[in-house]
Parts: sequence; C-alpha cells; structure tokens
Amino acid sequence: MFYSDDIIEEVRSRNDIVDVISGYVKLQRKGSSYFGLCPFHNEKSPSFSVSPSKQMYYCFGCGAGGNVFTFIMEYENYTFPETLKLLADRAGVSLPEQEYSEEAKRQRDRKSAVLEVNKMAAKYFYYQLRSPQGAKAMEYLKNRQLGDETIKRFGLGYAGPYSDALYRYLKKQGVSDQLLKESGLMQVNERQGMYDKFWNRVMFPIMDVNNKVIGFGGRVMGDGKPKYLNSPETIIFDKSRNLYGLNFARTAKKRYMLVCEGYMDVISMHQAGFTNAVASLGTALTSQHASLLKRYTDEVILTYDSDEAGIRAALRAIPLLKEAGVSTRVLHMEPYKDPDEFIKALGTEAFQDRIDHAENSFMFEVSVMQKSYDMKDPDAKTRFFQAVASKIAGFELEIERENYIEAVTGRYQISFEGLRRMVMNVLMQGVPVRKAPVRQEARQEKEDGIRKSQRLILTWLCEYPKLFETVSAYIRPEDFSDKLYRSVASMLYEQLEHGQLNPARITNHFQDPEQQRTVAKLFNTEVPVETPEEQKKAIKETIHKVMEHGIKQRTAALDPTDMEGLQKLIESKRRLQELERLHISL
Ligand code: UTP
Ligand code: MN
Repeated sequence: MFYSDDIIEEVRSRNDIVDVISGYVKLQRKGSSYFGLCPFHNEKSPSFSVSPSKQMYYCFGCGAGGNVFTFIMEYENYTFPETLKLLADRAGVSLPEQEYSEEAKRQRDRKSAVLEVNKMAAKYFYYQLRSPQGAKAMEYLKNRQLGDETIKRFGLGYAGPYSDALYRYLKKQGVSDQLLKESGLMQVNERQGMYDKFWNRVMFPIMDVNNKVIGFGGRVMGDGKPKYLNSPETIIFDKSRNLYGLNFARTAKKRYMLVCEGYMDVISMHQAGFTNAVASLGTALTSQHASLLKRYTDEVILTYDSDEAGIRAALRAIPLLKEAGVSTRVLHMEPYKDPDEFIKALGTEAFQDRIDHAENSFMFEVSVMQKSYDMKDPDAKTRFFQAVASKIAGFELEIERENYIEAVTGRYQISFEGLRRMVMNVLMQGVPVRKAPVRQEARQEKEDGIRKSQRLILTWLCEYPKLFETVSAYIRPEDFSDKLYRSVASMLYEQLEHGQLNPARITNHFQDPEQQRTVAKLFNTEVPVETPEEQKKAIKETIHKVMEHGIKQRTAALDPTDMEGLQKLIESKRRLQELERLHISL
C-alpha cells in the first residue's frame, strides 16, 4: 500500500473500535470488554468480544478478529483502501492524494470507467422496463410471478427492440467507442460497426459483493434461442470469481448457503425468503467460487436442476467445496426441475422441508454410483460394495468411517460387519499411504500446543504489560515459531520497551485479513485458569515451554562455527534451569 504508517495509524486511532462496531452490532459491557452476537457466524449467545483497551475484536466462537480496519474489510467486504477511506471520512481525516504508478493508475481508471458504463446501462434498462415500451417485458416478469419488490431489488430491466438504442444513449452521454468496446455491452462487426449486444430481452444485472454492476444476463421473452445471453468476461467481470445473488446472500447470516444454477432460481428463492441463495451462472462451480463461499459459510446445500446435467454438476462441485473446507448436502427437487418451478408448485414450506432433508453429499455420491451397478447381479453387487468400501476407507477418522458404514448398511443390503471388514481390507492394502498422515497429525498437534503457549505469552503481555520485564528476560522474539509470530512478537516487544502498548497498531502492519485474524488470535488466546495463583503457575509453565522449544529450535539451526550463538544458547539453558525459582507478580 502507498499510505504511510503514520496516516494509517492516525485514521485507526481516531476511530474508536467500540464506537464503530456499535454501529453494526449491539454490544454490552462485561468487565473490561464488550460482548455481542458475532456478525460473522450464526450464534445464539454472544461470543464476539470488543476490547476498548486493545482496540481489537475477537470472536471466541469462529475466530474472526482484528482491529477496526479488519472489521470493516470483513463486514463490508471492502478492500483496504476502501476501508481506509471510509474510516478517514468518518473521523474527518483527509487522506493525501495517492501516488500511483502510471500503469496502476491507468488500470484503476479503466476499471472504474467500465464499472461506470455498466451502471449507466443498468439504469437505462431499468427505466426502459418501466416505460410504455417495456410493458410487454413487465408482463413477462409478472407472468413469472415476480412481485414489484423483487423486480426492484434485483434491478431487473429491459433492453428495447432496437439494436442500437443503448449505443446511441451511451454515445450521447459522452462514452467513447473504445470504452464501449471494453464494457462488454457491444458487439462489433465489419459490416455493421458497433451495435448493442442485448436487445429485446429482459435484463438481469449481475452485481459483485459490493453491489456494483459488473455484467448482465438477458433472457428472451419466450422460446427463442439462445435463452440467455451474458456479458463476456471484461476487466471487471470474471465469471469464475463471482456468484449471482452473493451481494444479498452474504448478509443473510444463515448457517448455510444455497447454490443453484440460474438467475430465476436465485430470484425465486429470495422472493420466497431464502435470501441465502446464489448461482454460478451457467458455468460450472470453480475452486475460486468454493473459496469465495468459504468466506461466508461452512456448509452449502446444492439446489441444482434435477436432470442429468444437474447431477453431474453436483458431483463436480462436491469435491471442490470439500477442498475449500465447505461441507455439502444435496437437495432433491423431484419431481420438479429447478427451485423456481418447485417453489411455484409446492411453496415455501415444502421447499424448507426439502432443505431440512437434503442428503449428505457422500450418500448422494453413493446413490449415483449405485445406478451404474445391476444390484440383481451378485458380481455387480459385490463390485458396488467394494467401490463403496474404498470410498469409506478414504475418511481419516475411525468414527467417520463407522458412521458411514452405518449409513450405508441402513440403506443397502449389507451387514455392518460385512462392510466393515471390506473397509478394513482396503485400509490394510493401503497401509503406506495412510500411515503417513497420521504421524504428521501427531506432530501437528504438538506444534499446535507450542503455538498455543506462544499465543498465551503474547496475550498475557497485552493484558499485564508489567509481565514484560520478566518475560523478556527469558523469551526473545526469535524464540517464536513462525515468521508471523516472530514479527508480531518483535513489534510488541518494541512497544513494551517504550511503554507504549498498542496491539491494534501492530495489526495495521498486516493487510491480509487472514493474517489480521491470526494477529487477533495472538492477543486473545483464552486463558484456561481462574485464580491469580493458578494464573501465575500457568505463566511460569508457559514461559518454560516456549523457552524450551526456542532453545531446541535454535540448537537445530545453530551453525557450529557461531561461537556467539553457542554462548547465548548455553546462557539460555542456564536460565531455563533458574526459572524454577522465578517469582511472578501480576
Ligand atoms: P436454465 O436453462 O436452467 O435457466 O439455465 P433458468 O435459470 O431455469 O431460467 P428460466 O427459468 O428458464 O428462465 C441455468 C442458467 O444457465 C445459464 C443462465 O445463467 C441460466 O440462469 N444459461 C442458460 C445461459 O447462460 N445461457 C443459456 O442459453 C441458458
Ligand atoms: Mn433452470
């Protein structure tokens, strides 16, 4: 970023975090912190805390956390510069003019120009729909049972019968041909020159998470071909990274998201109150879509069409979502084709019931697999169960495997023992592949233990700055495990050395929300003990653990010719032994 640390810090310190967050979340004071319901996950009792002294927030439920910048970036889905601007305006700080490189500036200007043109077009279509010319289109939407509210909310519009109306309109507004070409709204050919891509269609603006129009889908009114035309990819429209309806769905705050195929499905679902529905718009779900979804939810319910193509799409989406850490269930739409038809035919309650009974994705995969085996043929049946056993063997945990064995035996004709033995056989054959990750897991757990101790140290330092003198005599920033921990520790040490504790300022140094979240976690580790005596004992033990690990780490990395390093190590080992006698005061 190009803003100086000082201006960033000025903006941060002039926006009290409790004030800012109170505008979004109802907070109540409890001891030295404020608590409220976490806006980043669904919960019934408050585990979202805001600390006025640290000027940071942290959710003990989902781990969301950071300073006031992080909060706005996460809540509003803003970039860092957008967030800085918002908070600077809020506090009346004027930001210096940005120094962009020529190229970066051109790129940014082009993007905002293309966005602007798309916005103008959206407005144009919106008014066309409401003009006498748009009566037929309005009637089409009404026939599809869309209410006025819905039509307005989704900004639906109409592209009139002439193929140069938008072109002429935008030219009159002073838009250059070059920009029109880049906007995705025009078609160019040798003979006719430039003309509108969309005409005589109902228009669906596609918005990004910040409600900016980035493209359009246009539907013929009736049976013409192609049914939908879509904006091509432009510098603002990347189909593999945007989901239709996400701008609304992201604030629905439901435990899960509904993912469907099309514009009309999203709109019908939202109209019926399922405002957590999004669509991947004609393209298959990508891994980028999956990580985008992961930012908002841990569970997806696929509501794809019930035809062959829908099933294939679901089978492709499940592993991608799993990879991104999202679990999936599959909703059965039969006998209807898609959510739009279903809701029209059976209504909201029936749809909710299908959501509640959506199938576990593994069982869905098994049932699709089963269709390609003739279960009346003993050989085919054996092969089917073998295939199922291999699939079950893929689960890490025994309890998971047993639960799936149970689920399969409940549905297909095989005994629990029988299938369990088959799974065991697969596991035996696959020993070398499977053993490795288990050992790695144990190592991982130990790593996590050390890290937790390191986090505790940093949390304690924030809460009891007086501890610094003692702690710093034993633990150096270099003793922390990874780069992020080390750099946070050295910044915190620096502040404490000058008696200027300011955790939120440290967070400024990390602009990636993922890192800010980690920083917040470092300062908000839950301390498992209650009484001051227990507390002191825990601090001592933790110092011991971190120090011991630091020594190990340094020993492993020591260059045999580094005499000074060796001296320091010996000194640390001596101090480690002395630690027994240390008296801690809080
Ligand atoms: P569908 O054919 O299922 O359309 O395509 P739909 O959403 O149910 O729409 P209605 O109810 O018939 O009006 C699903 C999605 O695939 C894309 C669109 O995004 C559509 O919403 N698609 C479909 C196209 O891009 N072009 C097409 O010609 C057809
Ligand atoms: Mn459909």
